[in-house]
Amino acid sequence: MRNSSWKSFACATLALLGGVEATTTPDLATLLSKQSNLTTFYTLIKTYPNILLQLPSYQGVTILAPNNDAFNKIPYTVLNNAFKNGDEGVITNVLEYHLLQGTRTAAELVPGAPVFIPTLLTNETYSNVTGGQVVENVEQAGNVVIFVSGQGSRSTLTQADLAFTGGVVQVIDSLLIPPGNVTQNTESYNLTSFEGALYKTKLLETISNASNVTLFAPQNYGFQALGPAIANMTVEELTSVMDYHYVANEVLYSTDLTNGTKILASQGENITITHAGNNVYINSAQLLTSDILLANGVMHVIDNVINPQGPGAQPNPAIGTQGVVFANATMASDLPFTSDIPCSTSCPVTTTSSASGSVSAGATTTHSASKTSTTSFSTSKSKGAGAAKETGMAWAGLVGAVGVGLIL
Ligand SMILES: *[C@@H]1O[C@H](CO)[C@@H](O)[C@H](O)[C@H]1NC(C)=O
Ligand SMILES: *[C@@H]1O[C@H](CO)[C@@H](O)[C@H](O)[C@H]1NC(C)=O
Ligand SMILES: *[C@@H]1O[C@H](CO)[C@@H](O)[C@H](O)[C@H]1NC(C)=O
Ligand SMILES: *[C@@H]1O[C@H](CO)[C@@H](O)[C@H](O)[C@H]1NC(C)=O
Ligand SMILES: *[C@@H]1O[C@H](CO)[C@@H](O)[C@H](O)[C@H]1NC(C)=O
Ligand SMILES: *[C@@H]1O[C@H](CO)[C@@H](O)[C@H](O)[C@H]1NC(C)=O
Ligand SMILES: *[C@@H]1O[C@H](CO)[C@@H](O)[C@H](O)[C@H]1NC(C)=O
Ligand SMILES: *[C@@H]1O[C@H](CO)[C@@H](O)[C@H](O)[C@H]1NC(C)=O
Ligand SMILES: *[C@@H]1O[C@H](CO)[C@@H](O)[C@H](O)[C@H]1NC(C)=O
Ligand SMILES: *[C@@H]1O[C@H](CO)[C@@H](O)[C@H](O)[C@H]1NC(C)=O
Ligand SMILES: *[C@@H]1O[C@H](CO)[C@@H](O)[C@H](O)[C@H]1NC(C)=O
Repeated sequence: MRNSSWKSFACATLALLGGVEATTTPDLATLLSKQSNLTTFYTLIKTYPNILLQLPSYQGVTILAPNNDAFNKIPYTVLNNAFKNGDEGVITNVLEYHLLQGTRTAAELVPGAPVFIPTLLTNETYSNVTGGQVVENVEQAGNVVIFVSGQGSRSTLTQADLAFTGGVVQVIDSLLIPPGNVTQNTESYNLTSFEGALYKTKLLETISNASNVTLFAPQNYGFQALGPAIANMTVEELTSVMDYHYVANEVLYSTDLTNGTKILASQGENITITHAGNNVYINSAQLLTSDILLANGVMHVIDNVINPQGPGAQPNPAIGTQGVVFANATMASDLPFTSDIPCSTSCPVTTTSSASGSVSAGATTTHSASKTSTTSFSTSKSKGAGAAKETGMAWAGLVGAVGVGLIL
């Protein structure tokens, strides 16, 4: 009832806007209808018009509009099922995530440092952070403007500054992926020992059900390098260690991790941030991959487990791999805590691993992962490109048909 009246209001709004022949700045419908690369997006907006109702409540919006090519890539992403099944709830959330608060021209989207821009996505499933889920805006060499979303997915700005009466449209080449929960991210970033330790200590439930969290997640190698020194800890001891990797009630993106900052971990001791050269250290552990967006905050991958018993540990920037900071560490052949992950349909592999096995071996930059949605989801990838592509085409056709049927 409420939904359908929203919808008809939005339809009326869209129709009204569309009927006015713009002399200067066009309205959204007029603008979109004239962009041959945005026909799928335009159809989608008409199919799910209730998101447009949010527009008037903001002082202008920036619409990151995926081009037609972007929709053809859906089968390779975690969004495949939602779009294939026409799941209105998920699609509405996805569309809201493409609306940035405020009007941002391309000139404002070329930051010196990463910028975390709030969107209109506020559904708690994807956005249990204060002020709306964010998209990371970064600049790549050659003034290439990138938007990083969930699972480290990267979308590139391909066409800038299409002004409309309510703001501006910026065209991107891939859909933004709304951030997932903690376990979805620990799994796609291969942080299985960290995840297992969260299960073992039952901290996973607490952390997953909190808003505004920051996690420092050691790569598997960090746990493996400790062996029994961590695997044999009592649950209380392990809880203290894991709590030292968790900051409650604060979402600290990389831009907040400035040199000399002290952060009070949930465990009760401070963590110290140190910058040296191009590297950033969390106590003595090196930051490997920063700013993995979580539905309820942010996660950063570090090379080693940090120790609340020695909060003053300092890095040695002269060496590439920082040493362990626990007594009696012995390199283990297996990955600690992976057997604590409950086994359901897709059980994580708990085999031995090479010493170099890590989510981002070689990644020494301090910001965003180069992972893409396609590399993060092995299940959708393994289906076979041919079949997936056909699904995508069929879906695009379906939206066309549904859109015309419902709206026109
Ligand atoms: C439309 O997309 C094609 C290929 O995706 C690209 O070559 C072309 O430049 C785009 N047109 C505009 C106006 O961006
Ligand atoms: C949030 O999104 C989920 C998944 O699409 C949906 O099931 C849920 O109803 C939404 N919650 C609200 C409050 O809209
Ligand atoms: C994360 O989301 C997945 C998919 O919805 C779900 O199966 C899983 O239980 C969630 N994990 C947590 C810790 O809530
Ligand atoms: C999550 O927190 C709410 C209150 O903040 C509580 O009612 C709910 O039971 C919690 N859920 C879990 C799984 O801990
Ligand atoms: C969001 O966080 C609040 C605590 O601030 C919690 O009560 C609620 O259950 C969380 N929502 C989700 C979907 O996890
Ligand atoms: C760790 O625990 C295992 C199994 O309980 C035991 O065999 C091993 O000796 C312990 N190692 C150390 C260093 O305490
Ligand atoms: C989340 O963080 C914001 C700013 O960091 C703060 O204003 C807000 O009160 C926090 N919310 C909760 C539930 O902790
Ligand atoms: C953490 O650091 C802050 C700021 O430097 C300081 O005020 C506080 O006393 C420290 N807390 C602990 C437990 O060391
Ligand atoms: C970080 O701060 C320390 C102490 O003030 C200083 O010696 C160091 O040069 C700073 N690092 C960078 C990269 O500015
Ligand atoms: C390390 O091993 C030595 C010798 O076995 C033992 O005395 C000491 O308590 C151990 N330290 C820790 C922190 O387990
Ligand atoms: C995940 O980690 C394991 C063990 O460290 C390694 O064998 C495997 O290749 C990694 N997988 C990916 C996708 O990085």
